[in-house]
Amino acid sequence: MGSSILVLNGPNLGRLGSREPDVYGSGTLEDLRAELEREAPPGHRIDLRQTNDEAELIGWLYEAVDTASPVILNPAAFTHYSYALRDAAALVTKAGLILVEVHISNPHAREEFRHTSVISAVATGVIAGFGFDSYLLALDAINRLLG
Ligand code: DQA
Repeated sequence: MGSSILVLNGPNLGRLGSREPDVYGSGTLEDLRAELEREAPPGHRIDLRQTNDEAELIGWLYEAVDTASPVILNPAAFTHYSYALRDAAALVTKAGLILVEVHISNPHAREEFRHTSVISAVATGVIAGFGFDSYLLALDAINRLLG
């Protein structure tokens, strides 16, 4: 098992803090990084990244496979329509690696188009609706599964 936990964030999540704070809270991605680093399981490093680029996100999932790293993935809007990202996420779980899909908000309590995730069926599990705690709960789940 690789020693990094990849925490991958999709489009518009680089704007956390100022983006719809009523929905996503006022914390930034750097605040999230600090919270996750505080809770990283022994022997694991948090590698948090964000991109607006679908191809880059797919490349990072290949990297997870190649380095045998567990993944926390917030696919953001790609959640709802990217079959390419879904196929890449499937490569991770088919390789026997953990991939936790997370959402800050609860997409099921929002607009209709957010009710569909094309990622969930190939994820190890899904955590949504707990703000930044969704990521911390995902980290806890990874810790338990690896422990
Ligand atoms: C999100 C929910 C998505 O519907 C949305 O497109 C996002 C963020 C969340 O974390 O709540 O960008 O994934």
